[in-house]
Amino acid sequence: MGMKKSPEARAGELRRLIRHHDRQYYVENDPEIADFEYDQFLAELAALEKRYPELMTPDSPTARVSGAPLKGFTTVRHAVPMLSLDNTYSADELRDFDARVKKQLAVDDVDYTVELKLDGVSVSLIYANGLLVRGATRGDGGRGDDVTANIRTIRSVPLELAGVELPERIEIRGEVFMPRSGFAALNERRVRSGAPAFVNPRNAAAGSLKLLDPKEVERRPLDAIFYQVVNALELGLATQTEAVAAMACMGLKAGPHIARCNSMEDVIDVCLSRQERRHELDYDIDGMVVKVDSIEKQLRLGATGKSPRWGIAYKFPAESATTVVEDIAVQVGRTGRLTPVALLDPVFVSGSTLSRATLHNQDEIDRLDVRIGDTVIVEKGGEVIPKVVKVVKAKRVGRPRRFRMPKRCPACGEPASRLDGEVDLRCDSASCPAQLKRRLEHFASRGAMDIEGLGKALVDQLVDEGLVSDYGDLYSLTRDDLVALERMGEKSADNLLSALERSKERPFDRVLYALGIRHVGSRVASALASEFSSTTAMAAAGALELAAADEVGPVIAESVESFLGADRNREIIEKLTAAGVRMEARSRAPGSAKLSGKRFVLTGTLPGMTRTEAVEAVETAGGRVSSSVSSRTDYVVVGSEPGTKEMKARELGVTIIGEEEFRRLLAG
Ligand code: IVH
Repeated sequence: MGMKKSPEARAGELRRLIRHHDRQYYVENDPEIADFEYDQFLAELAALEKRYPELMTPDSPTARVSGAPLKGFTTVRHAVPMLSLDNTYSADELRDFDARVKKQLAVDDVDYTVELKLDGVSVSLIYANGLLVRGATRGDGGRGDDVTANIRTIRSVPLELAGVELPERIEIRGEVFMPRSGFAALNERRVRSGAPAFVNPRNAAAGSLKLLDPKEVERRPLDAIFYQVVNALELGLATQTEAVAAMACMGLKAGPHIARCNSMEDVIDVCLSRQERRHELDYDIDGMVVKVDSIEKQLRLGATGKSPRWGIAYKFPAESATTVVEDIAVQVGRTGRLTPVALLDPVFVSGSTLSRATLHNQDEIDRLDVRIGDTVIVEKGGEVIPKVVKVVKAKRVGRPRRFRMPKRCPACGEPASRLDGEVDLRCDSASCPAQLKRRLEHFASRGAMDIEGLGKALVDQLVDEGLVSDYGDLYSLTRDDLVALERMGEKSADNLLSALERSKERPFDRVLYALGIRHVGSRVASALASEFSSTTAMAAAGALELAAADEVGPVIAESVESFLGADRNREIIEKLTAAGVRMEARSRAPGSAKLSGKRFVLTGTLPGMTRTEAVEAVETAGGRVSSSVSSRTDYVVVGSEPGTKEMKARELGVTIIGEEEFRRLLAG
């Protein structure tokens, strides 16, 4: 037995451990230990600090939430004013910017960085000798509010920077924001408790940062990303690219998807391709930011009034428009939820035509006071379904008709019910054809069974013709059944049959997700599938044991138990099993898979496969995909437009491969 450590040494060790695991979890997105183990470290540290108060330090991870609510914020002065960027909306305006930069610098070539323009609240942080000492809002640019206590509650913001040679003082700037998923969950909680919902993630982030009680802020799912080192040159950082890499090395979330370009045409390409994929991220961006890479050149360019000459924002086209609500219809969802939908006079919004927008529920209709015939503003946000955000009251003519949700399901005529505490109305009928259609569409969708060719129109036909009354029936469809359908040729019938055949190969977690069990999204399905190897095992486990699995809470567990307990669902599962669909996890003999235990990081776009396909291929071969490069990474797969990950890989000497080599590895 070794000598017992002094409490002081143990506290120091625990803090280092917790700091390391915080970074892995919140910044790198690559946890190395279970939540349970982490909680034990934290509890041990808290106990030590309680017993020996003299051991407490300001950067202790137990002190993220500290102190009583504030009376108000103190004003602080920004040593270097926080400016804002000029906006542009087109490629030509970017070319003008390029010309101005080159002219002023009297050069022919300039390197630029292109970054995401995060749609949050800008903040400035100061670390002194590695410790977070101040966090402030932008305010009027010259003076802002000291929100240090609130910033400290954001888990991805390190209280102490990582690294050995830390600067005496470093000021960094970035954006505090709320991820879309966290925003949705927060709003759900608020609505349930009777509080008004936030309009968008930016307002939610701004509102949260201004709360006076840090305990309250801690419950808000805030995150932060940094994009600027204010005193970069002083710290020996010569370019924006280096500054972002340096921040990442110190354990900060910095400049995701940053690209470096040596011509404005490349910059424009990056902007446009990101614009197309702007909704892939779990947070809102409202454009891209283009900066002169060299800091020395930035200083030479200087600023005009309130914006720098070295950078510019490229704003994405607006995603909202004004149109008229021609009618309000009620849509029946997969779980029977009845949702009012505004039928719009079709309007073109950034790349597509909108003709429907959700109104969520009766409460939302009342809140907006939308009536049929009203002129409204519709918005295509991050969510898949566009929504009505406002009524233009000035354009209301006469006394338009109000809308009330019906008492019965519009598809099957059964009475709709309102569950206790829920705003939503639901159709409880097990044989409601509209619900069945939605469920089948979900079953066939990309992330679920991925049955090509089985879209909305065909689902409608199959249900209306009485050919399919549950998922299982899909697999007994014959060529004759299909050919007899209107608008169905022999070729399409064969294609559908082979797509159905291929879908039997989907792994168990996808099948589980496809079943459309309430509250079981794809993440929960994966968690369940890795804990329980089959639906039989899950049914045998019961709610209590189910709830013990990662990601699974009591509500989900109840829902799974009652789904698997229903006779009707058991029949469906039997049909699927008989058809050859995987109702069990493939047992993966450890070590036997080709890439067993290998860690991959994917960066940039691969020309020949989507990210999902690449991740799946690695996982099938027994490997793991993490989102950030560390010394334990085995391969970094680099596509076009790679980010800082490639740089980090080079620094750490991790093997970098392209798509071709990646495919060779997968093929074994
Ligand atoms: S650089 C001189 N980079 O956009 C200002 N700003 O008006 C330097 N923003 O106030 C800012 N993402 O809140 C920069 N990658 C990014 C950004 C970014 C979002 C915000 C920031 C700033 C506003 C520009």
